[in-house]
Amino acid sequence: MSRLAGKTAIITGAASGIGLAYAERFAREGARVVLADVNEAAGKAAAERVAALGESRFVHTDVADPASAEACASAALESFGSLDILINNAALYGDWDMRDQSYEYLQRVFEVNQHGVWLMMRAAAPQMVRQRSGRIINQASGAAFNYASAPSPDGEFHGLGSFSYSQTKFGVVGLTKFSAAQLGRFGVTVNCIAPGVVDTEATRKTVPAGMLEQLGREQPVPGVIQPGDLTGAAVYFASDEARYVTGQVLVISGGRHMP
Ligand SMILES: NC(=O)c1ccc[n+]([C@@H]2O[C@H](COP(=O)([O-])OP(=O)(O)OC[C@H]3O[C@@H](n4cnc5c(N)ncnc54)[C@H](O)[C@@H]3O)[C@@H](O)[C@H]2O)c1
Repeated sequence: MSRLAGKTAIITGAASGIGLAYAERFAREGARVVLADVNEAAGKAAAERVAALGESRFVHTDVADPASAEACASAALESFGSLDILINNAALYGDWDMRDQSYEYLQRVFEVNQHGVWLMMRAAAPQMVRQRSGRIINQASGAAFNYASAPSPDGEFHGLGSFSYSQTKFGVVGLTKFSAAQLGRFGVTVNCIAPGVVDTEATRKTVPAGMLEQLGREQPVPGVIQPGDLTGAAVYFASDEARYVTGQVLVISGGRHMP
C-alpha cells in the first residue's frame, strides 16, 4: 500500500469522522499528511494517531478564514516541500439547527461549507500549478441530490430553515466543475466524493436512534456505510491513475442517489 508515496496531502476537517479516516488511509498509502482542523484538541489527538502510520502534522486551520487557509497551505509546503493533494472535507454538518431561520446562520453555513472550499483551493492551487501536478478532492454529499438536510422532528413546517446544508453541498459540486475546467491544463484535477449517510459520531448525534440502520436497509445495496468505505475512492482520485479524471462526482451511497 504505497500508491501515494512521497505526496503531500492536506486534509481539512481531519480531527474526526470521515476526515480522520482519509488521513489514516493516506498515511498508510505513503502520503505525508497535514491534518487541518479548527478543533485544536481533537486535531492534535487525531494527528498522534496518524503519526503512528506515517509522516504527518496538525495545523490549526479555519477554512472560512482566508488568512488561515493561506497559512495552512504555506505550512504544508514548508513542512514537506510540496503540495500535491487537497481534500476539502471540513464542514458544518453534525450540529445543525433546523429551526433557525436567521440570515446570519445561512451565511455561516455558506462561509464554512462552500466558501471554505474555495478559499482552500485558492490557497493550494498556485503551488500545484507551479508543480504542474495536483489533486483536489471536495467532499459533497448525497444531500446535494435529494435536498433533504434532515427530517422535521415532528413532521410540521416550522418556517424555511436557514441551515441550507444541501444548498452548500450542491454548490461544492458546482465549484468542483468550475475549478476543474480552470485547472486541468496545468495538470491539476478536481473531483468530488458525495457520500450517503455515513456512520460517524456527527451523524449519530444528528439523526434519531435507529435511523442510520433503517436508511441502510432501504438502500439498493443495504448496509451502514462506514468512513472506511469512502477512502478507496479518495486514493483513486489522488493517484496518478486518475490523471484524466476531472470534474466528476462519485456518489457512494449504496445506490440511494443516482444523479
Ligand atoms: N457523515 C455523513 O453521513 C456525511 C454524509 C455526506 C457528507 N458528509 C460530509 O463529510 C464531511 C465529514 O463529515 P463527518 O461526519 O466526518 O463530520 P465531522 O463533524 O466529524 O467532521 C467535520 C470536521 O470539520 C471540522 N470543521 C468544522 N468547521 C471547520 C472550519 N471552519 N475549519 C476547519 N475545520 C472545520 C470539524 O471540527 C470536524 O472535525 C463533511 O463535509 C460532511 O458534510 C458526511
